Amino acid sequence: MLNVKKVVIPAAGLGTRFLPATKASPKEMLTVVDKPLIQFAAEEALDAGIKELIFIVGRNKNVIEDHFGKSSELESELEKKNKTESLELLKQVVPEGVTCAYIRQAEPLGLGHAVLCAASAIKDENFAVLLPDDLVKSESRGCLKQMLEEFEEGIDAILAVEKISLSESEKYGIVDPGTQRGRVIDVNGILEKPLAKDAASDYGVVGRYIFTPKILSFLRDLPAGAGNEIQLTDGIASLISNSKVKAYEFEGVRYDCGSKLGFLKANVDYAVEHPIIGSEFRNWLKGRTQ
Ligand code: G1P
Repeated sequence: MLNVKKVVIPAAGLGTRFLPATKASPKEMLTVVDKPLIQFAAEEALDAGIKELIFIVGRNKNVIEDHFGKSSELESELEKKNKTESLELLKQVVPEGVTCAYIRQAEPLGLGHAVLCAASAIKDENFAVLLPDDLVKSESRGCLKQMLEEFEEGIDAILAVEKISLSESEKYGIVDPGTQRGRVIDVNGILEKPLAKDAASDYGVVGRYIFTPKILSFLRDLPAGAGNEIQLTDGIASLISNSKVKAYEFEGVRYDCGSKLGFLKANVDYAVEHPIIGSEFRNWLKGRTQ
């Protein structure tokens, strides 16, 4: 297992699908029950032992910085009122030893461009990329941790994948798979958002990646691709030509929180398991579906 200390968390999209909720607040701050998507992302990285968080932020950057920053006023209010549980929750947002950096992506030029914006912070180290609107709920180890266990010497990238319906191929990076051993699959090629007839398989990429720094040089010279954006997928396609790239079929359920339906499903699934409101919510839900 190779060492990975940094994670890039892109959060500079326009969030147009969630307007007006995202007019003044980034879509990554939308909450699943009581926790913003971006905090789920940070927690998944921490679960994988990654403690340097690099956020790529756009126009509503302050909200994200405030969320991960210290809130002295709120803390002292909670202390005064003896609200120890709430205070503890606040402190857990950024545990000891975790650092946060914020890099501005002035224009939403694509995921490849967002990753490239982090180049000066990544330097020549391995790094992960975690897209907050793909929420993965897993029983034991988080998705990134599972992938990290497979990130070995000789591999330059590992991507999370899951089987998708081919009618939705235009929403995903689709891999051309080679040999599969357990959950690990060789990747022979990758295409961003192909038509179903051009898709090499029904393995769609989910927003979790681990890279050696080699990918950065491939992203630098990339022309705009699908959707006229600089696509991470195109950088990976170039990387494949001289490096080993693997896909990992993770264990867990993925919610597409970039869509209203996926976001609502996540809210329901997390709500029914919530330690405080779970049982009452389950009862209410039963009553509604009868
Ligand atoms: C991005 C990637 C795509 C990947 C998807 C997963 O697309 O470009 O390859 O399959 O995330 O959510 P986006 O959803 O940002 O359009």
